[in-house]
Amino acid sequence: MKKKVLLIFMAALLLWTGMACASDEDPQGDLPQLELTLEELAAYDGKDGNPAYIAVDGVIYDVTDVSFWRGGEHNGFSAGQDLTDAIKNQSPHGVARLRGVPVVGELVE
Ligand code: HEM
Repeated sequence: MKKKVLLIFMAALLLWTGMACASDEDPQGDLPQLELTLEELAAYDGKDGNPAYIAVDGVIYDVTDVSFWRGGEHNGFSAGQDLTDAIKNQSPHGVARLRGVPVVGELVE
């Protein structure tokens, strides 16, 4: 009898902890966390210890740890800006280079 009560208690505990964990999760998956305007994005220029963020098609990418973007600079382009047009029309690689670059947020009005 004691065993049965203990088992039921354990099952209830497991269920409860499972539910508690699930409720902490973002129901829509890994959504971007930050919402920045173009003006706010400018602070993320990769200079003076600031992270280096770039926006492409409304998505903000963190290029702080991308070697080609050391110091927030890359082939004449600077972080802290919306570089949608530049990456699509001026870079030789296009948006394919963004694959694997961490997404940290989205650009808002
Ligand atoms: C988002 C805006 C970006 C712009 C405007 C841009 C622009 C450019 C330009 C103009 C070049 C040619 C340099 C030259 O050969 O004269 C270049 C090359 C290169 N970029 Fe970017 N880039 C961007 C993002 C990235 C990212 C996110 C990465 C890496 C994760 C990257 C990696 C590279 C590499 C490896 C090259 C060497 C050439 C190649 O692979 O085609 N770029 N980029």
